[in-house]
Order: sequence, then structure tokens, then C-alpha cells
Amino acid sequence: MTDTPTVEPTKADSLSMRDNRTGREYDIPITDGTIRAADLRQIGVKGEPGLATYDPGFVNTASCRSAITFIDGDLGILEYRGYPIEQLAEQSTFLEVAYLLLHGELPTQAQLDEWVLSITYHTFIHENLKQFIEGFRYDAHPMGMLMATVSALSTFYPAASKIDDPENRMLQITRLIAKMPTLGAFAYRHQQGKPYVYPDNSLSYTANFLAMLFKMSEPTYQADERLVHALEVLFILHADHEQNCSTNAVRSIGSSQVDPYSAVAGGIAALYGPLHGGANEAVLAMLKRIGTTEDIPDFIAGVKDGKEKLMGFGHRVYKNYDPRAKIIKKACDDVFEVTGVNPLLKIAQELEKIALEDEYFVKRKLYPNVDFYSGLIYEALQFPAEMFTVLFAIGRTPGWLAQWSELVQDKEQKIARPKQVYTGIRSRDFVPMSER
Ligand code: ACO
Repeated sequence: MTDTPTVEPTKADSLSMRDNRTGREYDIPITDGTIRAADLRQIGVKGEPGLATYDPGFVNTASCRSAITFIDGDLGILEYRGYPIEQLAEQSTFLEVAYLLLHGELPTQAQLDEWVLSITYHTFIHENLKQFIEGFRYDAHPMGMLMATVSALSTFYPAASKIDDPENRMLQITRLIAKMPTLGAFAYRHQQGKPYVYPDNSLSYTANFLAMLFKMSEPTYQADERLVHALEVLFILHADHEQNCSTNAVRSIGSSQVDPYSAVAGGIAALYGPLHGGANEAVLAMLKRIGTTEDIPDFIAGVKDGKEKLMGFGHRVYKNYDPRAKIIKKACDDVFEVTGVNPLLKIAQELEKIALEDEYFVKRKLYPNVDFYSGLIYEALQFPAEMFTVLFAIGRTPGWLAQWSELVQDKEQKIARPKQVYTGIRSRDFVPMSER
């Protein structure tokens, strides 16, 4: 993995600070636009711990040095290993992008062929895992099933705990990327009460996933190529997004040196939440609840009054149009050409138009994010809403694993263990029950 070289700080690359409690002055080196929080420890008053930063939600704290994904939130730029997302979405395949994220370079034809073959080879899951899925209730949420089955994979592959062995790491990475569609599809079939469909290794990664979801009695399930392509683009758009909530969870769990299945299961849990990957499900529910374009102004008024959020809008990093949302908006047209237009599209478009002109959203730089239109496509592709986040998880798996791989090779990383500012009561004597 390549890494950006560290610039040796000079006096000019430093921050001068004066602690007004003591009158002492400090020069803190600045490297790559950051100061090291540990350098603040030297600033202190005698008898008290050194200075620390307080940053709930890590809004201005870098947790790692990474060479995988670049985002400029103000300009709306997203690049994987330096390649713009627009070019990858248009010219690449999901497995090619996965290779790029993991290895840092686009594969040659021979490397891609070998990669696709090894992914294809690992698509099947152990029959015991199928029985494990059967144990879930008929109405279990597929994300809960996915989280549990990915976690269970660590019991099938105990060698995965040897995270210092590069060959072993790559084997587990290949396995997990290969098995995610199978686990996602089995969770879906379980919920539907339909028999599981085994992988068809003559199909592409995405076409095989659609076959495992929707095949019934036909000998081969052939999904419409345009729909396969649209889903492939969606997977590419979701493949990585630097230090988002779920990736941070994967890195944080991975920092304990646990196996990658356990770390990714934690990422899936984080993704499940409505403020993260669960947002597209929430967008669809919101659009259905609004019902007609005439009801949009009332809804917007409620959002501005703080009664609820406009789901699919706003982003911690993007203070501009999310570049992924632009690509998805275009993919909507391609999908609707095959499936017919989702009637909720009109409400979404009108909602976007009104919000983008409204001072509340303009002032806060709230633009559509990746989740605003993706739910409409997923619904048109016949996915029930509970499956939306599963699709996100399948797409994000190469990113989680590339970030995990970078983490375990980064000599500077330590077990994640943030500080706290303690605000509770100190040292008091235990009160017996009879005296409370
Ligand atoms: N609707 C209405 N107001 C909003 C929204 C929204 N969707 N998002 C942010 N705001 C407002 C906040 O209320 C706040 O207003 P205030 O300054 O008056 O208090 C201001 O904009 C800043 O918002 P924060 O919550 O501080 O922004 P943060 O970076 O913490 O949150 C988040 C980002 C979680 C994505 C937020 O915008 C949100 O909840 N959006 C809706 C959920 C969503 O779409 N999530 C998907 C994100 S993309 C992804 O995970 C793949």
C-alpha cells in the first residue's frame, strides 16, 4: 500500500499556542494540515492531566492516514485511489473497483481474470450456515440476518484470526466479498419463505446476486442487462467513503486485532442505523407518507420546525451535491426505462426542487445525498425496503476490507480507545440498601 510521505515540520509548519492559565508558550508541529492530539498533552497545569481535544462524533479529528478514498465535500469530489467516481461508475465493473480499492491500482486483464475467478470460486456458503439462517424468525430483518451470518463466518474460518499473514488476509477478503451476495440473497429468500437459490457461477457477480434473489423454476435466471448494469453502478458508488460511521466501526473493532468477519459484522451494525445506511429505507417511507406533491409544503414546514428530518438530505462531509446522488439520478432514468417510472419519483424531484431553493436548506448547505434516489431504484428493481441496506452493505464490503487491511498494516495504529471528559460524581461511600 502506498502512503503520502510525511513532510518534516519546520517552524513555519507549526502552531504557536499560549496557555493563559500558565503563561507558557508552545510550538506544535503541523503535518498534512493536522496537529497531533498527543502533542497537546505537554500543555497543562500542574496536578492536572495535559490538554486534550473534545470532539463528539469526530467532526474535526483524523483517526488515520489513508491512501484509499479522497473526498472534497465542498466541491463534491469523490475519488477511489485517485480515480474520479464518475469515471469508475461509467467505465468500470464492481469487482474491478474492489480490486482497485484493495490493491491501490487498476488490475491488468490477467489480474482481473484471476480475481474474478477466485471470487466466483468462493460464492458458496457452508450448509451449516444455511441451517443457521433457517433458525431466524420468518419476519427477521435481513440486515440482522446479514450481520449475524457475517459474524458467524469467523467460526467457519478460524484461521481468519491470523491477520498478520498477507496471504491469509487476502483469502478471507476474497471469501467475504464472494459470500456477501449469497448471504444477502439467502436472508431475503428466508424472509420471503422461498427456497434458497445456490450461486450460479456462470453469471457475473451482480447477475448471480439477482438470480439468487429472484429465480424460481426457470433453469437459468437471466436478469435484464440494463438492470444488472444499474445495480453494478450502485455497488460501485457505495464501495467506499473514507472514514464514515461504519468504516470507523470496522477500523475501531479491527484495532483490537480481531478477525475481519467480526470487524465487518460491526460495520454492518453501524450501517443499519437510519442516520447511515438505513436512510434510503427511511427516504422511501417519507415519500410514501408525503403522498402527493401538494403535501410537500406542509412537510417542509414540519422539517423547518424541527419536527422531523428531510431524509436523504445533508451529509457530514458534503456541503455540496453528493456526486453519487448525481450519478444515481441518471441511473434512475435507465432503470425506469425498463421497469416503468416509480410514481414516487415525481414527489422526490419536487421535494428536491423546493428544498434546494429554501433558505433553511441553503443556509445549512443541505443537498441530496446518495440515499435520496437510491431507494427509488431499488424499489423499481423489486427489492422490499428492508433489503436496501443489505445492498449498501454488499457494495461497501470491499471498502471496509480495504480500510481494515490498511489499518492492520499501519504501524502507527493502536487499539482504538478515545478519552472521555468525566462529568460524574467522584469517590463516595457505598450506601446500604436500607439507607437509600
Ligand atoms: N433535514 C433537516 N435538517 C437537517 C438535516 C435534514 N436531513 N440534516 C441536517 N439538518 C440540520 C440540523 O438540524 C442542523 O441544524 P441546526 O444547525 O439548526 O441545529 C444542521 O442541519 C447541521 O446538521 P448536523 O446534524 O449537525 O449535521 P451532521 O453532520 O451531524 O449530520 C447527517 C449529518 C446525519 C447525515 C444529517 O444530515 C442527517 O441526519 N440527514 C438525514 C439522514 C440521512 O440522509 N443520512 C444518510 C447520510 S449519507 C450515508 O450515510 C450514506
